[in-house]
Amino acid sequence: MAHLRLGDTAPNFTAATTQGTLTLYDYLGDHWGILFSHPADFTPVCTTELGTAAKFKQEFDRRKVRMIALSVDPLDSHQEWLKDIADTQKVEVNFPIIADADRQVSDLYDMIHPNANDTLTVRSVFIIGPDRKIKLILTYPASTGRNFYELLRVIDSLQLTAYHKVATPANWEQGQKVVVSPSIPTPEARTLFGDQVEELRPYLRLTPDPTA
Ligand code: BEZ
Repeated sequence: MAHLRLGDTAPNFTAATTQGTLTLYDYLGDHWGILFSHPADFTPVCTTELGTAAKFKQEFDRRKVRMIALSVDPLDSHQEWLKDIADTQKVEVNFPIIADADRQVSDLYDMIHPNANDTLTVRSVFIIGPDRKIKLILTYPASTGRNFYELLRVIDSLQLTAYHKVATPANWEQGQKVVVSPSIPTPEARTLFGDQVEELRPYLRLTPDPTA
């Protein structure tokens, strides 16, 4: 079992999904990826999460993020569950759900935490960059549904900070001021970002979102 950490290469796998058998790296291509696990089929929180995720797909697409979910139940169970999700959440799930009955992927990504539950996955989230490196790992308990606005927000931060020498402050949202990377001295920051760089302390410099 791998204990994955930020910066590790996301392990590749081939798995059966509700959209056919796929290999992770082929599915991602040169996109970002979000892989998220669900404890089990036909459970209430998971049902709402998959419906919400499907409604957010356009936003993930806009950010060039490919979505892939996982639950440890078999494919025929997933297919039945999809009908319930469509009925109750009023949306078709429009991305693949891995059928991980043999726990191949759950074990590879350490999604089963035996002190929480011996057989079901926790709610793991992995965000994978186009370089196949893991950029974010989140772990929620089964009883707490994830906030998909927060997942988009953190993707916005990851994508901004991957390409600009900035970091994002507490509760940051796209378009708000960002902080200059601590490794950049203020004069260099002013060359990079212009005169709007505000120096509150030598280590705390704010500047407008360079993409806004
Ligand atoms: C749920 O998705 O509702 C759920 C799954 C496992 C345990 C608790 C809740």
